[in-house]
Amino acid sequence: MNLLFLITTLLSSQQGDAFNGQAYLQSKDFAAPSFSLKALNNLHKQWNLESRPSPKIALQIFESRYGMHQAPYQNDDLPMGIKIAPFPLTFGTVKGIALDCLICHGGILDGKPYPGLGNNSLDLQTFFEDMNKADGNKKHLNFRFGNSRGTNEAGAVSVFLIGFRNPDLSLKTSWANLGLNDELHEDPPAWWLLKKKKSMYATGGADARSVRSIMQFMMSPLHGPDHFNTNEKKFADLQAFMLSIQPPAYPFAIDHSLAAQGKILFESNCSKCHGTYGDKPKYPNKIIPLKVIGTDTKRFFGITKDFGRFYNSSWFSKEIEGWFSDDYKARETDGYQAPPLDGIWATAPYLHNGSVPSVYTLLNSKTRPKVFTRDFENKFANYNKKELGWNYEFKNNSDHLQGKEITEQRKWYDTSTSGRLNIGHTFGDNLTEQERSQVIEYLKTL
Ligand code: HEC
Ligand code: HEC
Repeated sequence: MNLLFLITTLLSSQQGDAFNGQAYLQSKDFAAPSFSLKALNNLHKQWNLESRPSPKIALQIFESRYGMHQAPYQNDDLPMGIKIAPFPLTFGTVKGIALDCLICHGGILDGKPYPGLGNNSLDLQTFFEDMNKADGNKKHLNFRFGNSRGTNEAGAVSVFLIGFRNPDLSLKTSWANLGLNDELHEDPPAWWLLKKKKSMYATGGADARSVRSIMQFMMSPLHGPDHFNTNEKKFADLQAFMLSIQPPAYPFAIDHSLAAQGKILFESNCSKCHGTYGDKPKYPNKIIPLKVIGTDTKRFFGITKDFGRFYNSSWFSKEIEGWFSDDYKARETDGYQAPPLDGIWATAPYLHNGSVPSVYTLLNSKTRPKVFTRDFENKFANYNKKELGWNYEFKNNSDHLQGKEITEQRKWYDTSTSGRLNIGHTFGDNLTEQERSQVIEYLKTL
C-alpha cells in the first residue's frame, strides 16, 4: 500500500456518502415518534373540521397554518419534516408521527420545496399545541417550540432532552435542568454554508466537522444509548448530504456593472468578516465579539455554561480519538460568527434571531421595522428585489395585536421583546444610498 493511498483511505473513512445521507434523512427509522397516529387522525378537529379533509386539502392546511411544506419525495401524504414511523421496541407494530431535521431545515422557494434552506415559514409551536391536544394530552407542553413564525427554539429542544441523560447517554431517573431557555428565537442557517465553516451554530460554539453534535435531535427518551452508536455512520452520511447542497441562484436579472462596483465596496467594507467570493473564495471564519457586533445577546447567554460542561463530559464530545486529534468539544466564544453570504438573497429574514426582514434594512439600521409580518409563502411575485427579502408589512408598535389569537400574534415579529431585538450590525450605515444598492446588487451574485 503506498502512502498516498493510505492517506486518501484514512481521509475518506471519515467521510459519509451524500446519496445515502439523503435517503436516511427521508427514511422511517430516523427518529422516534413524538405523537401517536391518533393525533394525526384527530388533527382536523383542531382545524374546526368535522371530518378529515382530502390529503390535498390537508397539505394546504399544513402549509398555511404551520408553514410546513410539501415533501419532494414519497411521504405518505405528509409534509416535509414529519413522517409515519414505528415506535422503538414494538417491532414495527405500533406507529406514530416522528419529526426530522427538515421540519426546520426544509424551506420553500416559489412553491418548490428546498431541503437545506431554513424553514422561515414554520410555526412549530402551533403544530405542537395542536398535535398535543389531538393526541388527547391534557398537560401543557414542557416549553415553547417557537415564539414567532419562522424562528424556533431548537436550543431548548436540546437542553430539555439532554437533561434526561447521563454522560454515557443512558437515561437518568430524574430530569436535570441545564438552563432551559425557550426565548432564543433561532433562525435556522442554510445547510449549504456548512461546507465553508470551521465552527458552527450562531456563536461558533461547535466544531463544524462534528457528526455527533447534530445527533442531539435524536435524544428522544424512547431511545437508549445504543441507538446513537448504531446511527453514527448514518449521520456521517447525512452530514455528507448537507455538505453537497448548493445555494439557489438569484432568479431575477442582475445588473452586472452595478454589481461590479458593489464588489469593490464589499471587499473594502465587509470581506474582512464575511470573506471573498468568486474564483478563489476565502472565508475567514471569524467570531465577532458581542460588543463589536452589538446584536441581541439573548442567544449568546441563553445556552448556558452548565449545558456546555455537561456536553463536554458526554458521549457527544468524545467523537475522535487518536494521537493528533482533539475531540470536538463545545467551545466558549465571545460573540457571533460572521456567516458566509452565499445564497443570502434566499434566506431572509436576517441575523441569528431573524429580526431584520431584508438586506437593505440590515444595511441601513434606521429603517429596520419595529414590528413586521409577511405572508410566509415565499412566492417570487412577493420578492423585494430592491431590498433583498420577502415583502413585509410593518407597524411602529404592537398595539394592533391586542386581543388577537396567539397563532395570529406569532405571525408578527415584535422587535421590542426579549430575544428579538433588531439592534447592532451597523456596518452598512455609513454607505450612501447608491453604494448600498451597489452592494446589494453584488450580494445577488453570491
Ligand atoms: C426544531 C428545529 C430544528 C430541528 C428539528 C433541527 N434543527 Fe438544525 N438547527 C436549527 C436551528 C434553529 C439552528 C441554529 C442554532 C443556533 O445556532 O442558534 C440549527 C443549526 C444546525 C446546524 C448548524 C448550521 C450552521 O451553519 O451553523 C446544523 C449542521 C444542523 N442544524 C443540522 C441539523 C440536523 C442534521 C438535524 C436533524 C438531525 C437538525 N439540524 C434538526 C433548528 C433545527
Ligand atoms: C466586524 C465584522 C463584520 C462586518 C465588517 C460586516 N459584518 Fe455582516 N455580519 C457579521 C456578523 C457577526 C453577523 C451575524 C450577526 C448575528 O447574527 O447576530 C453578520 C450578519 C450579516 C448578514 C446576515 C446574515 C444572515 O444570514 O442572517 C448580512 C446579510 C451581512 N452581515 C452583510 C454584511 C455586509 C454587506 C457588510 C458590509 C457592508 C457586513 N455584513 C459587514 C459581521 C460583520
